[in-house]
Amino acid sequence: MEERRAPRLTSRKVPPVRPLADIAEDAQRGLTRRPRSMPPKYFYDERGSRLFDAICETPEYYPTRTEDALLGAHASDIIAEIRPDHIVEFGSGTARKTRHLFDACDDRGRATAYWPFDVCEAMLLESGQQLVEQYQRLRVNALVGDYLGGLQGLPEFDGCCLFLFLGGTIGNFTETQAGKFLSEVRAVMKAGDYLVLGADRVKPAQVLHAAYNDSEGITAEFNLNLLRVLNRELDADFRLDRFEHRALFNSDASQIEMYLVSSLEQSVRLEALDKTLHFAAGEQILTEISRKFTASRLESMLCLAGFSVTRHLEPENGYFSLLLARPD
Ligand code: SAH
Ligand code: AVI
Repeated sequence: MEERRAPRLTSRKVPPVRPLADIAEDAQRGLTRRPRSMPPKYFYDERGSRLFDAICETPEYYPTRTEDALLGAHASDIIAEIRPDHIVEFGSGTARKTRHLFDACDDRGRATAYWPFDVCEAMLLESGQQLVEQYQRLRVNALVGDYLGGLQGLPEFDGCCLFLFLGGTIGNFTETQAGKFLSEVRAVMKAGDYLVLGADRVKPAQVLHAAYNDSEGITAEFNLNLLRVLNRELDADFRLDRFEHRALFNSDASQIEMYLVSSLEQSVRLEALDKTLHFAAGEQILTEISRKFTASRLESMLCLAGFSVTRHLEPENGYFSLLLARPD
């Protein structure tokens, strides 16, 4: 008789546990008041996710390469120390760097369940399929949802869990959002579980500026993709050739700020909101912040959220941090 095996790739939706604004409400709140802004999660439709992946390949965007090298050098020790049954990753994208941890699990003969949690379903399914083909012992349970809607809707994990929040995505949160998110992660963790947090560090402004203004213009395309998403989702008529990408390092706030700048005076119709927006020439929409931390700020942020930092890994130039932390 043919043996029936559970599929190694599954996908499910994670419903928000508290009311979450949708794109119409976020646009109403963010675009009709000044200063204008939109939450960065709307970059990541399928096209935006591919553009982010292309940014990671640019010579100027050091965070991915730096974190990849750190994970590559330490994955084996991390897996030996934590011995996870489950790896849960927030904002997993293509999971390109996480493969170091799967390799280390494979080397130790560990059968691990991977739970990538992301808003972009297309990317989750595509990378999940590649992962189960590449790793014969890995089960991938894709979680489709918005991690800002709360984490109580996550499944209960039986055994030791390694939570990952990589790429410096914590820097896309305000200080309040970051504290709240880390506390929520802490609240779903059990004794013996670990968090690995990747975060970008303060560094010379010209290095930061180049990383967010790459010479091929891929970051500009990624930023402008937000307007395509608004056009599609809200039946809007933003003209992409009438907005420009701007990214600058605000040293007082220690953050990159990314804007879309109206190149001329213009009106934009958002049919779904029954609203017309009037832009002056030079008026901007804040589309993303990307905070850059000091090493001590990162440690105190984790302590405040109820974690003990057990290891703090960084390259020689101090460009990026990988912190291992467990519940206090
Ligand atoms: N961790 C990967 C990808 C970082 S890009 C890396 O380090 O390369 C940020 C990822 O977070 C994207 O895949 C995006 O779809 C996801 N994301 C952004 N906001 C989110 C939200 N509110 N809820 C769930 N996923 C989100
Ligand atoms: C996903 N996040 C950490 C990236 C960053 O660097 O803040 C998003 C990004 N924006 C422009 N380039 C990359």
